[in-house]
Amino acid sequence: MSDKIIIFDTTLRDGEQCPGASMNLREKMEVARQLARLNVDVIEAGFPVISDGDFRAVNQIATEVRGPIIAGLARCVPGDIDAAAAAVKPAGDRARVHVFLATSKIHLEHKLRKAQEEIIRLAVEGVRRARALVRDVEFSPEDGSRTVPEFLAEITRAVIEAGATTVNIPDTVGYAVPDQFGELIRYLFDHVPNIHDAVVSVHCHNDLGLAVANSLAAVRAGARQVEGTINGIGERAGNAALEEVVMALRTRPEVFGHVTTDVNTREIVKSSRLISRMSGLLVPRSKAIVGENAFAHSSGIHQDGILKKRETYEIMDPHEVGWGETELPLTKHSGRHAMVKRLEHLGYTLNQEETEHVFRRFKEVGDRKKFVYDDDLAALIEDSSLGAPETYELEYFHVTSGTTTVPTATVRLRHNTLAPADGKDTPTETMQDSAPGNGAVDAAMKAIDRILGHQGHLAEYHVQAVTGGKDALGEVTLKVDFGDGKLITGKGASTDVIEASARAYLHAVSRVLVTGAAAVASKPTDTP
Ligand code: KIV
Ligand code: ZN
Repeated sequence: MSDKIIIFDTTLRDGEQCPGASMNLREKMEVARQLARLNVDVIEAGFPVISDGDFRAVNQIATEVRGPIIAGLARCVPGDIDAAAAAVKPAGDRARVHVFLATSKIHLEHKLRKAQEEIIRLAVEGVRRARALVRDVEFSPEDGSRTVPEFLAEITRAVIEAGATTVNIPDTVGYAVPDQFGELIRYLFDHVPNIHDAVVSVHCHNDLGLAVANSLAAVRAGARQVEGTINGIGERAGNAALEEVVMALRTRPEVFGHVTTDVNTREIVKSSRLISRMSGLLVPRSKAIVGENAFAHSSGIHQDGILKKRETYEIMDPHEVGWGETELPLTKHSGRHAMVKRLEHLGYTLNQEETEHVFRRFKEVGDRKKFVYDDDLAALIEDSSLGAPETYELEYFHVTSGTTTVPTATVRLRHNTLAPADGKDTPTETMQDSAPGNGAVDAAMKAIDRILGHQGHLAEYHVQAVTGGKDALGEVTLKVDFGDGKLITGKGASTDVIEASARAYLHAVSRVLVTGAAAVASKPTDTP
């Protein structure tokens, strides 16, 4: 049995299914490029049949991202399988189709209303169809952990015989506990005669907070692929946090049989931050490995111990996971070239128009704060609707607020549309309006609503300092419901939190107006 654990990242598929975490094409591309730098083995880039936006994203990732295998998810039906195969095709011999079909009694009786024999027939047909299109086919018996073990063994044998190269056992509803889940994997090794013809994988959800523990128990039982997401994002309580799985395997090799991964652990923190920004899901401060406090020792006894010998209180070297890798900051005197170099280092590739836009914002911020750090730059990028055919920019805003006045905001927006092909100047238009509100932030949002003719309901609002110091950029992340129940994320950054809020709101409105289709794509009702 191989010593290598294949790391399968589903941040862009299962992670993106988390309400309010939808990403547009550009955001997905940035995430995929970073996952490639992190050197995961497989990127599950999406569910191609779900929408044109999903298909395009998987297809573009398969075309442009080098290194990892690119997988597309498919239900066990011909249309899904064909769409997934077509989307991942540009990845060539790194293309994978991931087919799933539920196998537990409860799903068979109440969701699919099919007998076990029918399920095996459909699974075999689905795998064969996928194998006719790509060499690399993964099969997942959905709700595997709640499936009768004898039936699970039977379907596993059948799909391997039909050509599945990976069989993935999902704990779809996060019901498993480590000992029992490890036993289930052992059972499959003991009862499926052709089990060694495929890689055994696991995919654990975190409803009981056991996704990582269950994944690790499965590795001890022989699983050689682990699926999960960065920061553990995903539906409900999320998926196994890959950074935790990877660091547990690395920190306790004697427990896990000295298995290895190819993950470039120094890229972990950078990946976590990028994904937090792109998904709008903040990382809790005390989250293992990537939370702000993960390596912060506040007690005097701990600090003393660390100074004498790091290992007294630290089981991992923070540098090993990418903490403390921030480079020399830029200042308002830094030029365009220096800024572009930093952005490239951070994984952003901008065209000329986008560079100009971000450079303008960089200079504005540089005027207000002494140093512009990597995270500041990333925050500036995130609140711009880069790559969109038209954008709304905050040109001017003014608020009056206080204990004895009605808070009122005046906002002026610039509407930019794509430069016409004839090379004439980019058309722009400015629009201005004022509105009173419950507070300064509310008034600014209402003024934007009046200008753009939208009415958003603020469902979530977070503000946090991007970097330290009194002149720190405040980054606002908010989620807005525009009346259809879907939560749209907006991000904005500024040294002034009211301005950052206005920018974040404008970002969310722009996503609905301009890139809404990709950002709010809905999924079929029977998705996992
Ligand atoms: O949780 C689940 O069962 C899934 C499958 C598609 C693997 O996400
Ligand atoms: Zn899942």
